[in-house]
Amino acid sequence: MFDLPFDYEAFAAADGLIGHAGIVVFDDTVDMAKMARFAMEFCAAESCGKCTPCRIGSTRGLEVIDRIIAGEDVAANRALVEDLCETMKFGSLCALGGFYPLSGTIGAAALSRGFRRSARRGDRVMTLIRDIDRGTPASPAAESVTLTIDGASVTVPAGTSIMRAASLAGTDIPKLCATDNMKAFGSCRICLVEIEGRAGTPASCTTPVAQDMVVRTSSERIDRLRKGVMELYLSDHPAPEEATEMREMADMIGVAQSRYLPIAGHLGAPCDISNPISTSIRPNASSVRAACGPATKSRARSP
Ligand code: SF4
Ligand code: FES
Repeated sequence: MFDLPFDYEAFAAADGLIGHAGIVVFDDTVDMAKMARFAMEFCAAESCGKCTPCRIGSTRGLEVIDRIIAGEDVAANRALVEDLCETMKFGSLCALGGFYPLSGTIGAAALSRGFRRSARRGDRVMTLIRDIDRGTPASPAAESVTLTIDGASVTVPAGTSIMRAASLAGTDIPKLCATDNMKAFGSCRICLVEIEGRAGTPASCTTPVAQDMVVRTSSERIDRLRKGVMELYLSDHPAPEEATEMREMADMIGVAQSRYLPIAGHLGAPCDISNPISTSIRPNASSVRAACGPATKSRARSP
């Protein structure tokens, strides 16, 4: 480590970070599991709540580390917290959630879906036709951009999101917080993609296309990160097995159930009204959109 050149690229290649952080040295009397817990507790307390990996992940992380410290199923919980660190590091929106796994303390311690469903009501067959939701609004730009998504060339108006361009090219990128009737805000982090020549895994709903960009919407790493985020969502859902849009998305991503379950849950917790903004937020909300409600973008019609 001390041989590393002091520049951003060398540190990034060694999984490090140059910034305003510091090196904290402990002697061997310090319980590093407790230090890991302290760092996760800090993240949970400071999380602004915008993105899922940090908002739910830090709380789940704290619970899992507590189980490790208590000696409960240590190997499985340690594997879970390591997976969580990857989800937080590559899935979080900003450096707070992404930085926790870099603190070093933790070292111690079907993308296609149908648009049609049928439901039998009495002797009458009702068909639900799901509107195609391209994830983000159309761009009004006159000029066009051509890029490659999963090996296919697609031309869209400049300013189009990668998510919308992929949808127009026939690829549904999983999403929970984006919808094509409002501006994307990049909260759920389910829609991460890889872009050739760019570091990290940006959200496809908030990343605009660029000329000659090469995008991958699925890879071993992307699929693992999506599963990690979905496990966090399901861990905070009052009825994870219920037939909701979130359950459908979990099935699409390939997550049957969350390894964080069972958790104590917070649904009965009193609302913290110490700040006026609290009264305008539902304390029980687990998602930024009604994805946990039934079929939000469906309409029923007779055949
Ligand atoms: S990673 Fe950043 S944006 Fe996401 S919840 Fe944490 S503090 Fe907020
Ligand atoms: S961050 Fe939620 S769909 Fe993109």
